[in-house]
Amino acid sequence: MSKIVIANWKMNPQTLVEAENLFRASSGAVVCPPFVYLEELAKIDSGAVLGAQDIAVSDEPGQTGEVSGEMLKQLGAKYVIAGHSDRRWKLGESDETVNKKLKEVLEHELMPIVCVGEKSRDSDFKMFLQNQVSLTFSGLTKEQIEKCLIAYEPVWAISTTPGSRSDTPESAIESIKIIKEVLVENWKLEIGNLSFLYGGSVISTNARDFLSLKEISGVLVGGASLDKEEFKKIIDISLNV
Ligand code: 13P
Repeated sequence: MSKIVIANWKMNPQTLVEAENLFRASSGAVVCPPFVYLEELAKIDSGAVLGAQDIAVSDEPGQTGEVSGEMLKQLGAKYVIAGHSDRRWKLGESDETVNKKLKEVLEHELMPIVCVGEKSRDSDFKMFLQNQVSLTFSGLTKEQIEKCLIAYEPVWAISTTPGSRSDTPESAIESIKIIKEVLVENWKLEIGNLSFLYGGSVISTNARDFLSLKEISGVLVGGASLDKEEFKKIIDISLNV
């Protein structure tokens, strides 16, 4: 089965010209740029698919600064990230808000990339993860959860976190197992119907370690997706595992 590579550009790059260059070099990946670049990038036939980094909790228009699911659809986004840890931890997004956003993504028939992951791998990490997963997916049907790409992104492994280091494939799988157990127990989901991604300091030299695992359907890449050559290497690895 082919693996998926998703770029989360976060708040990069600073100019449209740079965004266009990067997008042209990202063939075969899903690229989630800042909202402001979506419209122009959608005009480029690069072989990459577009996603958004966030979505408004509803289409109700009184939400200054927000972007609705309907707008994202019209701008050409096919995927939407919900619950990235930057938004959860730096911008104060609660599990409840992430849950609303996730429902909104599904409502608009966009493909959800749902991020979960503990802030630190301490003795409470398992309980934290179980709770976060339960609240994030609360009220969703089994069929809706099966549509999600569930990205396990431990915050401590994200390259912008001070002192970060990539997770090991073994411990990423341990966490994915914890997430699976919550979903299987609470929603009676079949393990085989769930899709997991790993994110956190994925670069060309460790991408194969994650992409070659049967438990992992793809990778969510931040920093390395901003370097054309590096990102191309990761996409090539995804095609050859
Ligand atoms: P890095 O690949 O820079 O660690 O970022 C991971 C991430 O947050 C992707 O969403």
